[in-house]
Amino acid sequence: MINFHQVHKAYRVSGQDIPALQPCDLQIARGEVFGIIGHSGAGKSTLLRLINRLEEPSGGRIEIDGEDATALDADGLRELRQQIGMIFQHFNLLSSKTVADNVALPLKLAGKLTRNEIDQRVASLLARVGLSDHARKYPAQLSGGQKQRVGIARALATDPKILLCDEATSALDPQTTASVLQLLAEINRELNLTIVLITHEMDVIRRVCDRVAVMDAGVIVEMGPVSQVFLHPKHPTTKRFVQEAEHVDENDQHADFDNVTGRILRLTFQGDATYAPLLGTVARETGVDYSILAGRIDRIKDTPYGQLTLALTGGDTDAALERFAAADVHLEVLR
Ligand SMILES: Nc1ncnc2c1ncn2[C@@H]1O[C@H](COP(=O)(O)OP(=O)(O)OP(=O)(O)O)[C@@H](O)[C@H]1O
Ligand SMILES: [Mg+2]
Repeated sequence: MINFHQVHKAYRVSGQDIPALQPCDLQIARGEVFGIIGHSGAGKSTLLRLINRLEEPSGGRIEIDGEDATALDADGLRELRQQIGMIFQHFNLLSSKTVADNVALPLKLAGKLTRNEIDQRVASLLARVGLSDHARKYPAQLSGGQKQRVGIARALATDPKILLCDEATSALDPQTTASVLQLLAEINRELNLTIVLITHEMDVIRRVCDRVAVMDAGVIVEMGPVSQVFLHPKHPTTKRFVQEAEHVDENDQHADFDNVTGRILRLTFQGDATYAPLLGTVARETGVDYSILAGRIDRIKDTPYGQLTLALTGGDTDAALERFAAADVHLEVLR
């Protein structure tokens, strides 16, 4: 659906070119939820805004649904933008218009539907986002979560193929964030909409994304399926985001390990393996004792996972490690 070939972007500031995105290759498949995470200034919004050409690339080629988006004329660009909806951190609603009129606006601008058809479409969009009872209200009369639902309905008005979300949940409390993410996941599933989502929270990525790109200083430093990147982060920036999501203080963790005897290992379980009674079996068979130093059990999108850091003492430690290595888990020996 989205194809970047060596796309780069520099902003011209007082006669100087300041790079914001280094040459970047990226493929996002139809129906995928693709996350972009990175610190402030990493180039996330720049990358996102290149997709609907709110920013002009300095070079490279961008294909959207097989079409060269870098070669479009004004009409072509208007068509492209109707196929790409966008939602924002601060919702960007028109305060002087009702909820229904905000959602109707892109349809009026497109000029393809009659008044009646627009009314019907707006009613079905508001039903879709659970706001049928709020059509005549003004944005100031809504909660943050409701405003973002209006933003989503408006973004979906022209029946786009792609939805771009720039920090769409950053202004919302955790519970409202969860409900908006759930709505995005539903829309993705039911409409097979491709979603590209920027966030600075790994937890948002974990809940809805299929793949993730980690950005640092204009470069994608790590990219892959969320389970891979989240459970086995490689780049220091990725590790920091994962630790933030886990509320782990890296220094604390190492201090703890200094006082622990035995072998230290980390086991990662995914899918059905999460529920298998592996620890007890291995302990019984090899005579090792284990203590749990850190652990978590949660879900990545719909797949359960568990990650445990263990210290092994006594018994046949090598045999235990062999048993773990042969089982349906990911084993890392930390010490
Ligand atoms: N219109 C602009 N003119 C000049 N420089 C810009 C412009 N927009 C962005 N930049 C610069 O480009 C770099 C990347 O900015 P971008 O907005 O893409 O970052 P970001 O990852 O979205 O950050 P944030 O998390 O704060 O939104 C930054 O150094 C920023 O200062
Ligand atoms: Mg940004």
